[in-house]
Formats: sequence, C-alpha cells, structure tokens
Amino acid sequence: MDPQTNIYQPFPVRILRTLPQIAEHRLFQLQMEDGGSWERFGHQPGQFIEVSIFGKGEAPISISSPPTRPDVLEICVRRTGNLTNALFELEKGSRLHVRGPYGRGFPVEKLKGRNLLLVAGGLGLAPLRSLLLYVLDRRDEFGDLTLMYGTNNPDNVLFKYELLSFFDRSDIRYFYSVDRDQEGIWKQYVGVVTGLFDQAELSTSDTCAVLCGPPIMYRFVLEKLLALGFSKENIYMSLERMMKCGVGKCGHCAIGEMYCCMDGPVFNYTEIEHIKEAI
Ligand SMILES: Cc1cc2nc3c(=O)[nH]c(=O)nc-3n(C[C@H](O)[C@H](O)[C@H](O)COP(=O)(O)OP(=O)(O)OC[C@H]3O[C@@H](n4cnc5c(N)ncnc54)[C@H](O)[C@@H]3O)c2cc1C
Ligand code: FES
Repeated sequence: MDPQTNIYQPFPVRILRTLPQIAEHRLFQLQMEDGGSWERFGHQPGQFIEVSIFGKGEAPISISSPPTRPDVLEICVRRTGNLTNALFELEKGSRLHVRGPYGRGFPVEKLKGRNLLLVAGGLGLAPLRSLLLYVLDRRDEFGDLTLMYGTNNPDNVLFKYELLSFFDRSDIRYFYSVDRDQEGIWKQYVGVVTGLFDQAELSTSDTCAVLCGPPIMYRFVLEKLLALGFSKENIYMSLERMMKCGVGKCGHCAIGEMYCCMDGPVFNYTEIEHIKEAI
C-alpha cells in the first residue's frame, strides 16, 4: 500500500537496523516494505507517526530523521510500556505498521534565512534532530545555527557520535550540558541547560528559538529567552501530550481549544502562552 493513498490506514514497514543509544533507548531505522524511498511519505521535520504492532498496541512516536534523507525513516524510542517493550523484542527484518505523518511540524519555511537556536533536553533531541539534520543538509538556506543540548548525566547523551561530529564543523555552534557529573568525566558544562546561555553570545533580535524537551526545561528556557529579549513570535516549541488517535478524533490530547495532535505538536509560543496547562 502506498502511504499517500490513505494517511489514516496503517501500512507495513520493516526494521532495517536497530542502533542502541543509551540504556532503554534505541534508534530504529525503518524501511518501506517494498524497499522504496520515504519521499512519497511526505513528512516534515517535527511530525510524528503512530507505530503499531498487532496484539500489542499503538503509540505516537516522533520522526527523528529529516525528509532530506529519504532512504530510511528513523525513530528513537524509550522503552516504557506495551508497545515499546514489544518493539524492543523485534529483530532486523521484522514487520510492524505505521500511519501518518501527523501533526504540524516545525515551520521550516518561516525559519529559512533566519538564525536558529535549537534547545533540546533529554529525549527532546529525538524530534529536534529531524530539524537539526534538515538544516545541516540545506545549510545555505539558513542563518547561524546554534545547538544547546542538556541531559541529566554523561551516560544519557543521545546521538553521542553525531554530536561529537559537530566538533569538526564550523557551520554550527554547539553547547552541551549535563546536570550532574559524579565521575568527573564531562569536559563541557555541568549544570542545567539554561546555564549554557551564559556561554553563547546570541544575537536575539533576528534569531528564532526552537525548543524540545520536558516541561520543566520549557519554563526556565522561556524565562531566559524572554529576559534576553527574544520576541514571543520567534519562539517555537514541541509539546507532548497523551495521545491515542493522533488525528483529532478522541480528544485525549486537548490543550485549551486545540488538539496537540492536529494543531501541534509544534506551537508558536504566542499560541499557547495563555493556556495554563500547556506547559
Ligand atoms: C507527539 C508524541 C511524540 C512522541 N515521540 C516519542 C519518541 O520519539 N520516542 C519515545 O520513546 N516516545 C515518544 N512519545 C511518547 C510515547 O508515545 C509514550 O511513551 C507511549 O506511551 C509509549 O507507548 P507504550 O505502549 O510503550 O507505553 P504505555 O503502555 O502506553 O505506557 C507506559 C507508561 O508511560 C506513561 N505514558 C504514556 N504516554 C506518556 C506521555 N506522553 N508522557 C509521559 N508518560 C506517558 C503511561 O502512563 C505508563 O505509565 C511521544 C508521544 C507523543 C504524544
Ligand atoms: S490524539 Fe486523539 S484527538 Fe489528539
């Protein structure tokens, strides 16, 4: 089945490769059943899919790879419950189903030509990576690129080798932090991710900030961005909510009058600042 025929219908895919990340987290590379390109899937950075395994369940998972790399579709999964446990039991070549792509992703067209500040916390790097790699693949279409990534300790750094590879590039500024470093092995900043703002000299007026991480990170990063003079219109964030249908039917993901699955998961700050339960 061609995914473009009916985006509500799950279609079969196969696991091409699984790459261990950190404890209980794996990157799955998915291949179309006919081995074809994912270009016809038509996904945008920041969108998600519903992943299902018959008899086990279904869960929304962010697409972690950009449309500029259409050979495989990558998802980075944390083992938490029914579906993800079953997914971790599958081997290379196994069949599962996906439907999508769903949701409003990052506003790529609006971000073109702008300086970008990408701020990720923990597993938030998984969806943000789709935008990060997109920008790196089309580097001349964007202005300065700054990445801030924070996680709780040095053992929990996702996409470690990719992050290390940026050391060899001059077209991205990167700042990495860990909350704690009990063994004293971390060479970069130790402290919460907001501490990285004191190291990066950001030009605030022409920069768009894109955030992806836990709600607690949003609270402090937003405070910092506004104090630095970022305009609210230039701040975007991806929100995670309990989702079931993924297509605006079940009401599980309501935020105020909006549905996170359809109106988000990416929102401009001005759209949600007045909704108390949003963050
Ligand atoms: C838009 C979106 C994108 C997501 N992207 C990813 C991703 O890229 N990688 C990834 O690993 N996970 C992602 N998730 C979270 C994932 O969908 C949930 O963890 C899901 O519950 C896993 O299904 P399960 O059947 O394995 O777990 P379940 O058996 O459903 O639940 C396991 C446990 O997690 C709790 N839980 C369920 N949903 C959430 C949630 N949204 N937040 C916090 N706790 C929850 C349950 O209450 C339960 O305690 C995303 C969620 C959304 C809404
Ligand atoms: S998940 Fe069902 S309405 Fe959003």
